[in-house]
Amino acid sequence: MTTLLTVENLRVRYPTRTGIIEAVRGVSFTLGRERLGIVGESGSGKSQTGRAIMGLTPPHALITADRLNFNGIDLLSVSARERRSLRGKRIAMVLQDPKYSLDPVMTIGRQITETLRTHEKVSRAEARDRAMAMLEAVQIRDPGRVYDLHPHEVSGGMGQRVMIAMMLIAGPELLIADEPTSALDVTVQLDVLEIMDKLVSERGMGLIFVSHDLRLVSSFCDRVIVMYAGKVVEELKASELSNAQHPYTRGLLNCMPIIGESRHPLPVLDRKPEWAA
Ligand SMILES: Nc1ncnc2c1ncn2[C@@H]1O[C@H](COP(=O)(O)OP(=O)(O)OP(=O)(O)O)[C@@H](O)[C@H]1O
Ligand SMILES: [Mg+2]
Repeated sequence: MTTLLTVENLRVRYPTRTGIIEAVRGVSFTLGRERLGIVGESGSGKSQTGRAIMGLTPPHALITADRLNFNGIDLLSVSARERRSLRGKRIAMVLQDPKYSLDPVMTIGRQITETLRTHEKVSRAEARDRAMAMLEAVQIRDPGRVYDLHPHEVSGGMGQRVMIAMMLIAGPELLIADEPTSALDVTVQLDVLEIMDKLVSERGMGLIFVSHDLRLVSSFCDRVIVMYAGKVVEELKASELSNAQHPYTRGLLNCMPIIGESRHPLPVLDRKPEWAA
């Protein structure tokens, strides 16, 4: 399989008054034209890993890696300008919280068409048509109306779909989707997964899919990496997630509810300090 992205020993650190916070502590993985799931508890560094690849960490963040390569491009040494042109066009990220990622004073239609027109030479009319088609593709029933709304006028789930439409409109080669479906009801969630799935199988996009939903990841993805305290503790085929060996992953699997079974008391994850070593 052709490799789209190589991440070797990625570190993200934040200097603070009380010392350095290590958000990501030496993460390595490769991604082909496939669906790679990232799971792990809150604060384990999933979003920070995605943001570092995307070049979206705040300026004071210290990012280092032995290699951070996208399609032959060294992401650590490209200029800020090249970074910007990659972002949105070739690498896109659906952020965990769409409410903070959409511009509150710009209509939804304008945000989507501007994203497209920044990266492609298309007429206003064509941009509008493509934005409408994309809104429909993410199951927004009334795209004509939603097009003219501002982000605060749509629901959380709609905001998330708008964000997905905006990220997919330029046809990225790599999509980092950070909890892209967590605010959606199940039927819409399936539609959105199908759109992403098609982009991977038909257009050869690479997908990094961050989620807390182990069942969803094991059925939707090809491979999964499990993060804990800023590190990758396990990497396995998604279909084999239930055979995970690492005690943290086993603990997560043990905590999954099983229909028809009542468990009292509920299992509690018994963290060991050596997992984070
Ligand atoms: N600007 C920052 N300054 C200092 N620490 C930060 C900053 N941004 C993130 N962190 C820290 O980085 C760590 C990893 O955060 P990250 O958002 O990657 O977690 P996550 O795995 O995505 O969690 P969740 O599942 O809750 O989204 C956290 O401990 C967080 O506090
Ligand atoms: Mg996160």
